[in-house]
Amino acid sequence: MGSISEKIRYVGVNDLKKVIFEGMWPLPFGVSYNSYLVMDEKVALVDTVEADFAAVFMENLRRELGDRKVDYLIVNHMEPDHSSLISLIRETWPDVRIVGNAKTLPMIKGYYGISDNVAAVKEGESISLGESTLTFYMAPMVHWPETMVTWFNEEKTLFSGDAFGTFGAVDGDITDSGAGLLGCSDSAGNTFEAFNEEMVRYYSNIVGKYGQTVQAAMKKLSSLDIKRICSTHGPVWERHIPEVLSCYDRLSRYEGEKGVCIVYASMYGNTARAAKALSAALTERGVAHSIHNLCTGNVSYAYRDAFRYNTIIAGAPTYNNDIFPPVYNFMYGISARLLKNRHFASFGSFTWAGASVKLMNEMAAKLGFDIISEGLSFPQAYSPDKCDMSALADRIVSVL
Ligand code: FEO
Repeated sequence: MGSISEKIRYVGVNDLKKVIFEGMWPLPFGVSYNSYLVMDEKVALVDTVEADFAAVFMENLRRELGDRKVDYLIVNHMEPDHSSLISLIRETWPDVRIVGNAKTLPMIKGYYGISDNVAAVKEGESISLGESTLTFYMAPMVHWPETMVTWFNEEKTLFSGDAFGTFGAVDGDITDSGAGLLGCSDSAGNTFEAFNEEMVRYYSNIVGKYGQTVQAAMKKLSSLDIKRICSTHGPVWERHIPEVLSCYDRLSRYEGEKGVCIVYASMYGNTARAAKALSAALTERGVAHSIHNLCTGNVSYAYRDAFRYNTIIAGAPTYNNDIFPPVYNFMYGISARLLKNRHFASFGSFTWAGASVKLMNEMAAKLGFDIISEGLSFPQAYSPDKCDMSALADRIVSVL
């Protein structure tokens, strides 16, 4: 994996041990923590990796460095999956100059107690490694306040931090010419397709709230002639840059493709039967959709499809005169991510007083969603005459 070009070396790692990222998001295909060396007269290391991988990381560094040392550590992002070996780098090469920005340095001190031989760069400032120049651009709130990106002008390479990243460990080569998604067979030239679902899930789960600042960063970087993107997660993008930029652009504009994300949760199966009736009605009409049982599935996948599709239909029974909690959690999650531009409808059963449909509609209204139906709130057992999913499917078809 090591060599990306003569001057850029990959020293990152695959994490196949962690099953839940950030304590919330499943990792069925693992995740990579990417770190890069830029080697010239001076050597710069761009970001580190997660603390559990110190031994492999140091092995990778020694392999590429030989007897050379790291002169600069560039800290594009302080989240601990990338910063937690800063102390190890400083212990190994005590003279290393740590480069961040005004927002990075207090975090380095707070997390790792390091405040000496650190430098805060400003927007557009550069350092020279010899024939190679690294220039820094601030990308605040993509997705932390201190995030910045590093531009290697001579190789038209963007070290982008989390931006343009994806879940999924990388199999084979690290560049998208030969990379595959670990555990998936189709890697021959179809790297973007292989990673696409995991990229949308990564974006929606981790970055989703920050569409406006992602757009600002993309606008700022649009004048760069980018030939290679080295993000902190997933493949190095060379062949599929237009697809990757387009994916992040669409997601950060909250633009959904035609289709429906059905989410539901059910205590005794009545709201579930309604959800499945809607799914069947949409299938009959040839409408692309997904269906997520939030009692049994992780909400991570529902967020992915809420960002993917332009229509969300949520089903929850009334519980404590409120929305059944798994669906409340989903509605809260899309609200926290400031999701916009969606058609919306809701449904759900109740026994003695219905509240969930009204409350889900109120949450959707606060997001400015287009509420396409007053909702289907039905008493006790599900039946098609109490909850007409064929009519709702027709209504969905009419707005898609
Ligand atoms: Fe991969 Fe925001 O850290």
